[in-house]
Amino acid sequence: MDPKQDNQKETPENGLRHRHLLGLSDYDSDEIELILETAQQFRDVLNRPIRRVPTLRGITVVNLFFEPSTRTRISFELAEKRLSADTVNFTASGSSVSKGESLKDTAQNIEAMKIDMVVLRHVSPGAPHFLTRCVDAVVINAGDGAHEHPTQALLDLLTMSDHFESFKGLNVSIIGDILHSRVARSNIHGLLAMGANVTICGPNPLLPIHLDKLTDKGSVRVTHKLDEALEGADVAMALRIQMERQGRNLFPSTREYHEQFGIQMKHMKHHKDLLVMHPGPVNRGVELASEVVDHERAVILNQVTNGVAVRMAVLYLLSGSRLET
Ligand code: CP
Repeated sequence: MDPKQDNQKETPENGLRHRHLLGLSDYDSDEIELILETAQQFRDVLNRPIRRVPTLRGITVVNLFFEPSTRTRISFELAEKRLSADTVNFTASGSSVSKGESLKDTAQNIEAMKIDMVVLRHVSPGAPHFLTRCVDAVVINAGDGAHEHPTQALLDLLTMSDHFESFKGLNVSIIGDILHSRVARSNIHGLLAMGANVTICGPNPLLPIHLDKLTDKGSVRVTHKLDEALEGADVAMALRIQMERQGRNLFPSTREYHEQFGIQMKHMKHHKDLLVMHPGPVNRGVELASEVVDHERAVILNQVTNGVAVRMAVLYLLSGSRLET
């Protein structure tokens, strides 16, 4: 097989069997556990007065962002700098993409400048997979269309592990626009691999049709009633309504959506141990009431903090072969 196409390494010298992080669909629990354990160690680094280690000195990482991002882009850049990697940031606007250059040509031109790793966010599902066939660099998916956002799910898992002893039997309800959500897909793969129970909840037009084909790691419970999703839940993960990916209005109004599917203070009062998560950016007053965003049991900013440590762990673990050459 062409080595550029192969996402399995011959020798799992650092514990990860994969060369790239394209999604969590093919990552098993041992690899996810290793990433989370490594992230916990990097969190200690981030709490030191000097938050920098020489681990990736000599490694060059390009952050290739073809879609807007605040959290993921800054988080990856910080993670790379904390690991002493050389970083280059690319955004499609202002680049030769506006002159018609393709993803393949853009990536190959950047690789010709001798880079080791590419972090890619792209509007097209599968773009990171395609990139692995065009370049020799390690590829990390920072969100591809409505497909996967693996580092978001990993930071979500790390945040849950801060509050619960085990994923086994943990009840996680993912609420909202599942259809357009790469965060939901990666979380479903990751949570089921770790032994959690996953419920998805939302209006019918925002749920995928082939739910049984979402993952081969188990099944998810489906409900269209928020009260059912919250009953017995340890974690409620609200998802952003993605107006930019909806070709048409899939529900009557954001006010009506909030009434039926938005987490409100009444829910926080009724479910006294419920942990609330959201990948951001939040539409206040839509997925979550504004008071819920700022509630002490909403861990949205903890998720963002954990993102840097998780991305340090992923960069470090995937850089293994590059460091040895
Ligand atoms: N959660 C997330 O991916 O946010 P950004 O789009 O700001 O990166």
